[in-house]
Amino acid sequence: MWTRPRRAARREGQSMLAEPMPDEPKGETPDLSAVLPMTAEVRGGRLFIGGVDMTDLARERGTALYVMDEEHMRNQMREYVRWTAYHWEDVEVLYAAKAFTSVAMLQILDEEGLSLLTASGGELAVALAAGFPAERIYMHGNNKTPQELEEAVDAGVHRIIADSLEELERLSAIAVARGVEQPVLVRVTPGIQPSTHSYIQTGQNDSKFGFGMNHGLAMEGVKRALELPGIALKGLHMHIGSQIFALQSYAKAIEVVVGFVEEIRRETGYTVEELDTGGGLGIAYGLPDEPSTIEQYGKVIVDGIKEEVERHDLPVPKMMVEPGRSMVANAGVTLYTVGTIKEVPEIRTYVAVDGGMTDNIRPALYDAGYECLIANKADRPRTEVVTIAGKHCETGDLIARDVELQRVDVGDVLCVCATGAYCRSMASNYNSQVRPAVVFVRDGEARTVVRRETYDDLLSCELRLDGTPVA
Ligand SMILES: Cc1ncc(COP(=O)(O)O)c(C=O)c1O
Repeated sequence: MWTRPRRAARREGQSMLAEPMPDEPKGETPDLSAVLPMTAEVRGGRLFIGGVDMTDLARERGTALYVMDEEHMRNQMREYVRWTAYHWEDVEVLYAAKAFTSVAMLQILDEEGLSLLTASGGELAVALAAGFPAERIYMHGNNKTPQELEEAVDAGVHRIIADSLEELERLSAIAVARGVEQPVLVRVTPGIQPSTHSYIQTGQNDSKFGFGMNHGLAMEGVKRALELPGIALKGLHMHIGSQIFALQSYAKAIEVVVGFVEEIRRETGYTVEELDTGGGLGIAYGLPDEPSTIEQYGKVIVDGIKEEVERHDLPVPKMMVEPGRSMVANAGVTLYTVGTIKEVPEIRTYVAVDGGMTDNIRPALYDAGYECLIANKADRPRTEVVTIAGKHCETGDLIARDVELQRVDVGDVLCVCATGAYCRSMASNYNSQVRPAVVFVRDGEARTVVRRETYDDLLSCELRLDGTPVA
């Protein structure tokens, strides 16, 4: 069985590679540490995370179940703060709530002293309910409703990231009516297309996000933000995409945007004080993935900005980064129980589990792939190639296609790795499926931080034809 190079690997009780069963075909036992949470280890043939036995947890709390390694999340937060601060003293790290949000998660974020990027009134409401300080909250979004803008202004969020002229006008009217000045960043699209799935590219000219830089729109946005009452322009924002491996894309985008900062100074006399370069650092979903480290990312962002502003003889702005996925994706796994196994001779074997596209839409949405293992056979070699199917009424409801797995039996606990980001936050109630619970594990303790939904939850918004509530 794989061993862990990090701290958890050295804990007592970790099992050694098991001898194959007498009838077990030979197979690879890969090291899955690159995709699993940092405290993952194998004891007695079973997968443990945060000192908790995943097989017992699944059987006690039910499946499907999201499990998050608290130590891994805190570690990522500290790494971001450490590596950006190492390169420049004035970098603010904003966690992008959309990757995974819960009140408990935001309490951890607050304890660690990071800031928060929200993308909707709902995310803002959860943050405020968690007691997250408004002065460390930012709000972005390409079409914030007037109500969301009002909620953000009333909450006193630190910055609103403006995406369009209409929004600037609306925000100005809201701020003036309240007699306040709302600090704003203007989002620009630098015309950079990073190499990632087209659905998560956002920095190209053909984008619904932000002010394009190629037809003078971005300059118009900046000028309006400077003129409008109730708006205090603080700087620029960009976000070129997600799951980015090639850091040169950031360097190129920074070159373009700092060039624009210089143009703004020339045309308006205004010097940009803050520059937010967004999020997007890629993570390992599969064993061949080799994402950049937070250290490398921090260096490219900070050095890139410093070099470019020096070239244009501009002051170094305050910098912001907005990681989402890289903070939480590898901290999480999803546990399922294997319900049925269907062999289609000479084609494939479907292993069906008690969840699917309702708790993880990414394979259907992006053709995303995952590494899987059986938690109760974690020290066995992966000798089979199977397709993990969900339980929903769509042929595309597959969690992992043609993946290596240990010999699988009905009742096994399947662990899908690297599901901490954009799974729970994109979960749905399709087929009136109740959404799974979220459990944080740490030091041998498992804390439910989001309970599993019930049928009553499903009915809680329903009204009969005569208007009476059902639940
Ligand atoms: C504006 C903005 N910032 C940050 C993020 C976080 O990106 P990631 O999770 O890839 O780090 C996103 C994700 O879509 C985003 O839209």
